[in-house]
Amino acid sequence: MNEGGKPTVLITGAGIGIGAATAREFAAAGYRVIVTDVLDEEGRGVVSEIEGSGGEAEYHRLDVTNTEQADAVVNDAQGRYGPLDAVIANAGIAHRVPLPELTDEKWDQTHEIDLKGVMRVCRAAAPAMREAGRGSMVAVSSIMGWPTAGTSTSSTRRPRPASWASCAASPSSSRGRGARQRHRPGYIRTAQALSEEHSLGPAGLEQAAEFIPMKRVGEPEDIADVILFLASSAARYLTGQTVVVDGGLLVGRY
Ligand SMILES: NC(=O)c1ccc[n+]([C@@H]2O[C@H](COP(=O)([O-])OP(=O)(O)OC[C@H]3O[C@@H](n4cnc5c(N)ncnc54)[C@H](O)[C@@H]3O)[C@@H](O)[C@H]2O)c1
Repeated sequence: MNEGGKPTVLITGAGIGIGAATAREFAAAGYRVIVTDVLDEEGRGVVSEIEGSGGEAEYHRLDVTNTEQADAVVNDAQGRYGPLDAVIANAGIAHRVPLPELTDEKWDQTHEIDLKGVMRVCRAAAPAMREAGRGSMVAVSSIMGWPTAGTSTSSTRRPRPASWASCAASPSSSRGRGARQRHRPGYIRTAQALSEEHSLGPAGLEQAAEFIPMKRVGEPEDIADVILFLASSAARYLTGQTVVVDGGLLVGRY
């Protein structure tokens, strides 16, 4: 735990969706939350909400495609609060396009955010966390790109960069979003899943509930709870693992 007795978590893409729910849950659990995003208004809104509930949070713009920003935000936080206790690499995008229409630009953009974005933030935080000998890194991925990918964790006690990097790569690399229509992600009710352009859209999401074994689409809090667990001492002997949080979709349907 950092100086002052309060653990600090940094979350990317925390202005909306899963990242925002995760920010709220960590704040409720007593963490100081560094909310980061490219959506400034939404990010500041999450901070106000947390402060309104008596929690501690601050907003910083962090575009995960920008190495200088990632270094600066992480170094600033660690300079003031000591080594981070948890890094949640959650920022991500999706492209729903048939393979023939998948442009190099879209492919590169997805890798810059979903894969290299994870690396940039974790790389910046790792040295201090390793030296402190504690802390957790959790990368939010997708069941779409990897048969067993969902949420992965890597403890800095035994860093496993290959593990979280491959999970982070999963949404966008080997199987590719939209490359084969039968490969579907765990569905969580957020802007991403509600987008007809990038995912199922509202009607498709409701239809999905019929074939999800738990008979409902996931809520952001369903993921946030698991992320909080992975960063907690309850997961102290767990590292380099991938946890699928999809209401049974992978095992039940695919
Ligand atoms: N919702 C789902 O069904 C679903 C399924 C599989 C995987 N995921 C993954 O979960 C994570 C969270 O997604 P969500 O559903 O909350 O989506 P969302 O679209 O609601 O939120 C994504 C967040 O990432 C941020 N972001 C995008 N580009 C960024 C950049 N360059 N730098 C910093 N932040 C950036 C957005 O501003 C937003 O805050 C993503 O990695 C997503 O791929 C979601």
